[in-house]
Amino acid sequence: MRGIISLSAAYFILACFLISSANSYNIVCYFASWSIYRNLSGKFDVSNIDPNLCTHINFAFVELYENGSLYIVDPWESNSKSDGGNYNGFQDLVNLRQQNPNLNVLVSLGGWNEGSKNFSVVCADEAKRQILVGEVMRLIAKYNFDGLDIDWEYPTLRTDSHPQDKENFVKLLAAFRTAFQPRRLLLTAAVAGAVEKIDAAYFVGNLTNYLDMLNVMSYDYHGAFDGFVGHISPLYASSLDYKHEKNYTYVASAAIEHWLRNGADPSKINLGVPTYGRTFTLADKNNTQLYAPILGPGPKGLFTGLEGTLGYHEICNEYSGADSQYVFDDHQKVPHRVVDDLWIGYDDNVSLTYKVDYAVAQKLGGIMVYSIDTDDFLGLCGHKYILLTTIKNRLDYHRSK
Ligand SMILES: *[C@@H]1O[C@H](CO)[C@@H](O)[C@H](O)[C@H]1NC(C)=O
Ligand SMILES: *[C@@H]1O[C@H](CO)[C@@H](O)[C@H](O)[C@H]1NC(C)=O
Ligand SMILES: *[C@@H]1O[C@H](CO)[C@@H](O)[C@H](O)[C@H]1NC(C)=O
Ligand SMILES: *[C@@H]1O[C@H](CO)[C@@H](O)[C@H](O)[C@H]1NC(C)=O
Ligand SMILES: *[C@@H]1O[C@H](CO)[C@@H](O)[C@H](O)[C@H]1NC(C)=O
Ligand SMILES: *[C@@H]1O[C@H](CO)[C@@H](O)[C@H](O)[C@H]1NC(C)=O
Ligand SMILES: *[C@@H]1O[C@H](CO)[C@@H](O)[C@H](O)[C@H]1NC(C)=O
Repeated sequence: MRGIISLSAAYFILACFLISSANSYNIVCYFASWSIYRNLSGKFDVSNIDPNLCTHINFAFVELYENGSLYIVDPWESNSKSDGGNYNGFQDLVNLRQQNPNLNVLVSLGGWNEGSKNFSVVCADEAKRQILVGEVMRLIAKYNFDGLDIDWEYPTLRTDSHPQDKENFVKLLAAFRTAFQPRRLLLTAAVAGAVEKIDAAYFVGNLTNYLDMLNVMSYDYHGAFDGFVGHISPLYASSLDYKHEKNYTYVASAAIEHWLRNGADPSKINLGVPTYGRTFTLADKNNTQLYAPILGPGPKGLFTGLEGTLGYHEICNEYSGADSQYVFDDHQKVPHRVVDDLWIGYDDNVSLTYKVDYAVAQKLGGIMVYSIDTDDFLGLCGHKYILLTTIKNRLDYHRSK
C-alpha cells in the first residue's frame, strides 16, 4: 500500500513537472553590450541586469572574418584584464547564473552591422564552416556559455550576399548542431520578420530541425528610412496599411503566421518585441496619421545618441510630459506619441500585454526582447523594468491558468 502511494506520489510529481515545463515560456533578452558607453542614466552594464526577468540572455555581439575566425568587437568591454580588457563582460554575464541557476547565457554572432558578406563567404566553404564552429566551441568552453545565437541579417539579402546563402546557412546550422549535440549546447537564431525576407532567406523546415529557438525580429517594420510615418512594430494591420500595397504584411502577426504556415514548430518561436521606438520629424504637425509625410528622423536621445530611435526609458522620461499626446491605435494595438513635430512609435505595457496574449494564443515558445538595456531599468518613470516585468507577469498569469 505504501509502495503504491509513494509510486503515485512520484507520478504526481512527475506529472506536475511535465505540466509546468510544458507551460513555461521563454523570455529571451538581448544585451547590447555597447550600452556601457551610453550617457547619464542610460549607461548600462551587466550589474544593471535583473537575472530573474529573463530565461535567456544573449550577449550582442561577436563577429566573424571572411576566413571563418571569430573576433571580439570590443575587447575592452568583453574581456578581463588578463585577456587585455577591462570590463569582464563575458564572465560577468555568465556569472549571473550564480543568482539564477536556471538562466541560460548565450553569445550572439552577427547583428545588423555585420551585414551579409562574411557570413556568405564562410558558409559557402566547408573548411571555413569548420573553423567557425571550432572557434565558437572554444569561446563557449572558455566562458562556459550555454550556447550560440546566430543573427545573420539576412541570407541572400543585403550587400555582397549570394543566392546560395539560403542553402549554405542550413549547412552551417547542421555543422553547429553536430558539434553542439553531445554537449547539449543551445543553438538559436534571430530571424527575419517580414514575409518576403522569410521567403528569400530561409528553408523554414530545415531551420526548425536544426535550431532550438527562432527569435523572430517582428519589429523595425517602419522607420524614418521609409520617408513616411509608420509604427516600428504593429501587432496587426490598420485599415490604412491595406491601402498601401503589401504594408498589411509588415506587422508582427503576419510574420509569425508566415513562419507557422511554412512549418515552423510554434514552441520554438519567440515573438520579438522592441524596447525602443522609431521617431519621425513630421512635415506637417497637423498630419500625424500613418503614412504622413516626414522631413526625416527625430532627434538624438540623451542616452542612446542616435537619430530616429529612442529607448523606452528616454520616451517615458523625456517625451511623456503635458505637451505629449498619447494615442493607442486600436487596429495595430500599439501606442505612439506626438510631441510638437515629433512622432514616436513604440511599445509599452499595454501593447506588450496584447503581444504576450497573442504569443500564447499561437502556442509560441515565448517572447524575445531587443534589448534589455533600453527598458526603464532604473525606474526613472516609476516601475523598474516595467516592460520586462509586464511580459513576465503576463506570461506567468497564462502559465498559472
Ligand atoms: C569581414 O572580414 C574582413 C576580413 O576577413 C574584415 O576586415 C571585416 O572587418 C569583416 N567585416 C565585418 C563587418 O565584420
Ligand atoms: C583570420 O584572419 C584573422 C585576421 O586577419 C587572423 O587573426 C586569424 O588568425 C585568421 N584565421 C585563420 C584561421 O587563418
Ligand atoms: C533542407 O530540407 C529539405 C527538405 O527536408 C532537404 O531535402 C534538404 O536536403 C535540406 N537541406 C539541407 C542543406 O539540409
Ligand atoms: C508600403 O507603402 C509605401 C508607401 O505607399 C510603399 O512605397 C511601399 O512599397 C509599401 N511597402 C510594401 C511592402 O508594400
Ligand atoms: C495646423 O492647425 C492649426 C489649428 O487648426 C492651424 O492654426 C495651423 O495653421 C495648421 N498648421 C499647418 C502647418 O497647416
Ligand atoms: C555622450 O555625450 C558626449 C558628450 O556630450 C557626446 O559626444 C556623445 O556622442 C554622447 N554619446 C551618446 C551615446 O549619446
Ligand atoms: C500600464 O501602466 C499604466 C501606468 O502605470 C497603468 O495605469 C496601466 O494599468 C498599465 N496597464 C497594463 C495593461 O499593464
